[in-house]
Amino acid sequence: MANTKRVNQKRRIVLGELGFYFCNWDLINKVVKMRVAIIGAKGQLGSDLVKAFGEDAIPLTHEDLDVTDFESLKILNELKPDVIINTAAYHKTDECEENPEKTFLVNSVGARNVALISKEIDAINVYISTDYVFDGTKGEPYTEEDVPNPINVYGVSKYAGELLVKYITDKHYIIRVSSLFGVAGASGKGGNFVETMIKLAKAGREINVVNDIVMSPTYTRDAALAIKEILRKRLPYGIYHVTNDGFCTWYEFAKAIFEITGIEVSLNPITSDKFPTKAKRPKFSALSIEKLKSFGINMRPWNEALKDYLREKGHIYHRTKI
Ligand SMILES: NC(=O)c1ccc[n+]([C@@H]2O[C@H](COP(=O)([O-])OP(=O)(O)OC[C@H]3O[C@@H](n4cnc5c(N)ncnc54)[C@H](OP(=O)(O)O)[C@@H]3O)[C@@H](O)[C@H]2O)c1
Repeated sequence: MANTKRVNQKRRIVLGELGFYFCNWDLINKVVKMRVAIIGAKGQLGSDLVKAFGEDAIPLTHEDLDVTDFESLKILNELKPDVIINTAAYHKTDECEENPEKTFLVNSVGARNVALISKEIDAINVYISTDYVFDGTKGEPYTEEDVPNPINVYGVSKYAGELLVKYITDKHYIIRVSSLFGVAGASGKGGNFVETMIKLAKAGREINVVNDIVMSPTYTRDAALAIKEILRKRLPYGIYHVTNDGFCTWYEFAKAIFEITGIEVSLNPITSDKFPTKAKRPKFSALSIEKLKSFGINMRPWNEALKDYLREKGHIYHRTKI
């Protein structure tokens, strides 16, 4: 009897220790390495993801593979990553209206191909999506529970990508980001809004910016670190909104850029009807990050992130107030 008691006690200690080890993700992460393939590695978000994952990153550029060509994805069979992050996209929103075939091929069929290969090799699939899956009529930040209703070809193609990923593999994270700015600049768009504003101002141009479209500006460095945290913490699979905290109009964003940098400029707020575009854009596409916060992942306000970005790009050299 005493013997059984001692054995049970020993068992409890061993199980207790195991419990400790299995609950201590930080410790497990040190032991179990996670290899993360990043598709679109030279892009704005992709290049910051490569930096965020450091030696665990397997950077894959457009030259290495094409998401629209399933054969080219077979390289992943040999690399055998634990996670595949798909940042590849055709996202020139106005061009997408006129090129629906290419738009759906890259953003939807491409997402499907990456999801299929992820399932084949039992890797987690992370698909980067967009605030443009929403129609912008809600008037307050969209949550992950809100039903998408895209209003342009790009948004429809990304929503189709989300649905295909969800349908193909349970082991998925759909990460919706918005209005990205990062040091690499969007290769698909030829830069980003911040750089365009600074270039126009330095050229002495008067600048008109829409003041009736609201979004959540997002620094790709912050988004990349949050995505890393989602994976590190092994959050439940599903949809996550990942943006910097808060929202503003594009005019307010431009105003902040010039206030922080101190660049003199003639900047005017205009309404979007004065700036007609081929693609309709949601009027209010800010994303709620409450779900992310509920898992202990906090995002700093967009204007703080903007200051850091401007410093990193060498547009400012010291701390300034806004
Ligand atoms: N930029 C934004 O404001 C914004 C807002 C919301 C959501 N998003 C989403 O966020 C993601 C990242 O955006 P980003 O600004 O980082 O874009 P990006 O700078 O244009 O990066 C996309 C990368 O994907 C590569 N790529 C394009 N087509 C490909 C293909 N068929 N096969 C393989 N690689 C391909 C591009 O390479 P090449 O340049 O060599 O073709 C590029 O390196 C995208 O999924 C986008 O839909 C972006």
